[in-house]
Amino acid sequence: MDEERWLITGASGQLGGYVLESLIHEVSPQSITALAGAGPVVECGAAVQRIDLRDRSAVRTCVEAVRPTHVLHLGGVTTVGAAFADPQATRRINVETSAVLAECVARHGGRLVFASTDMVFDGTAAPYREDAPPCPVSEYGRSKVTAEQAVLAVDNTLVVRLSLMYGFPRTHRTTTFVKQIESLRRGESLRLFTDEFRTPMWFGDAAAALIALCRSGQAGILHVAGPERLSRYDMARHFASVLGIMSTNFVASSRLSIESPEPRPADLSLNVSRLRERFPRVVPGPIRAESLRGHAGGGD
Ligand SMILES: NC(=O)c1ccc[n+]([C@@H]2O[C@H](COP(=O)([O-])OP(=O)(O)OC[C@H]3O[C@@H](n4cnc5c(N)ncnc54)[C@H](OP(=O)(O)O)[C@@H]3O)[C@@H](O)[C@H]2O)c1
Repeated sequence: MDEERWLITGASGQLGGYVLESLIHEVSPQSITALAGAGPVVECGAAVQRIDLRDRSAVRTCVEAVRPTHVLHLGGVTTVGAAFADPQATRRINVETSAVLAECVARHGGRLVFASTDMVFDGTAAPYREDAPPCPVSEYGRSKVTAEQAVLAVDNTLVVRLSLMYGFPRTHRTTTFVKQIESLRRGESLRLFTDEFRTPMWFGDAAAALIALCRSGQAGILHVAGPERLSRYDMARHFASVLGIMSTNFVASSRLSIESPEPRPADLSLNVSRLRERFPRVVPGPIRAESLRGHAGGGD
């Protein structure tokens, strides 16, 4: 097992934190290199390298030095808003760096898994299987589709399309999820969409699946998502119920009621039959107590 050399990009991100926490139970810290942006990284003994993913030559140098056998490429521009604000930088990081990284990793005999998204679809024909044609309606989704094509041009690469993830960040970070749970606990009113559906999964389940899939021989595209199709409103109701919060103040609303520069897809539910069939042990579970435990540094 220790002959494995892991390289994780986006290690300072939400998913990166969960990946490091999982991986550290399976391999020694010396066999993990965490490539991080500016944010804090989970302390697990792994080597942390601060890198700007826009700098493709730094990415190449790093791969040549580490010679990773397993790469989880999670880093990049990860929100619709950020991609819309700077499409050029988004393409540079999400597409061009991903292409260089995939090619360089393969040249040195390693295998790369690329984190893509349910946002490659437009939300009109869910649930989506792997062979459904991508039809993104946002700059973010378009950058991920082009990145998928670039990394899939390299042999033995796997693209994992992830659904919306939830869970407490493993380092100090205020996320929409954290704010929502805090509002729930304070009994504040929450306005939630009843007409926007996803198949949400816990970051911990996604991390475990990505690690297992990187060790598998699976190439191509695979959907990894939770088992339930839930609206934003339903998700919050599930969170409240699992956390034992009886008194809630939810206000139903429509995604069409807010102004947004790009369309908000109605239903991005992913079909996970292929995952269930080939990798039944890593199929993400439903919202449950384990997935809502542990606010890093927050004392719950
Ligand atoms: N979260 C979701 O619900 C979701 C759903 C579907 C797919 N995904 C995909 O899953 C992956 C992980 O998502 P996440 O939620 O963990 O994202 P995240 O929390 O936003 O983390 C993004 C990571 O990328 C790093 N990064 C961004 N720009 C960088 C740059 N120029 N140089 C170096 N590092 C840079 C960030 O570094 P710093 O912040 O430290 O600077 C951070 O470590 C992404 O590929 C995302 O597209 C996420």
